[in-house]
Amino acid sequence: MHPMLNIAIRASRVAGKVIVRAFEQVDKVEIESKGKNDFVTNVDLAAEEAIIETIRKSYPDHTIISEESGILEGKDNDYQWIIDPLDGTTNFVKGIPHFAVSIALKVKGKLDQAVIFDPIRGELFTASRGKGAQLNNFRIRVKQRKELDGTVLATGFPFKAKQHTDAYLNIFKSLFGKTADMRRAGSAALDLAYVASGRIDGFFEIGLKPWDTAAGELLIIEAGGLVTDFTGGHNHAASGNTVAGSPRLLKEILKDIRPYLGDALSK
Ligand code: IPD
Ligand code: CA
Ligand code: CA
Repeated sequence: MHPMLNIAIRASRVAGKVIVRAFEQVDKVEIESKGKNDFVTNVDLAAEEAIIETIRKSYPDHTIISEESGILEGKDNDYQWIIDPLDGTTNFVKGIPHFAVSIALKVKGKLDQAVIFDPIRGELFTASRGKGAQLNNFRIRVKQRKELDGTVLATGFPFKAKQHTDAYLNIFKSLFGKTADMRRAGSAALDLAYVASGRIDGFFEIGLKPWDTAAGELLIIEAGGLVTDFTGGHNHAASGNTVAGSPRLLKEILKDIRPYLGDALSK
């Protein structure tokens, strides 16, 4: 196993322990508002600290980009760790056991290693560039769907950016008419990991952040799928507008998104 993947796994397990311990007494969690419908807890912060400490021990010079601490520039900017210590904070604070730790490593701007860890189910999704993707060490693959008929798509509602509600609902309506069903489970990282492992056929969401998608993107690519922005291009890290699935299914999803792209909703 790649030594940097090994460290990412170690970090995700340490964070997972912090999260699960706190989840057992979720009423004691301290919650603060970062923005409209956007919360951070002492657990997000403690998990992030544990991850950063674990990475720093082995790689003190690497740059770290994490949701709660921002950019911690290291001497060696070729290596960038992108961290979401707790993806699914709303689920977590409500006592819903569906959230994950997401850690990715970019080397010279390219996704190189990825871990998404669901500490409740003990499911560890991993990928190394060029080496495929795994769930608990077993190879996973994206379902090679060709059309929307019969598929189940995962999505996220734009709850932090409700100005996009109309555009979102238009896209939802258009896709919902053609799919078997939709899921809004509350963790973009797990949505992407589920696409990578073939549990879910495709995914779309408006306004995600790099730490929501970086690890999931490598998992999906290594599992034979694609991740793009709303035009099929590669601006999703900047715009946050993200689509994922098999290459053929992704094209079909984009067809239903295209009519609603406008000024408010770019790529
Ligand atoms: C959120 C979750 C959610 C998605 C949001 C994300 P957080 O991350 O991934 O599923 O709909 O857009 O911000 O805030 O829980 O880390
Ligand atoms: Ca997140
Ligand atoms: Ca988070």
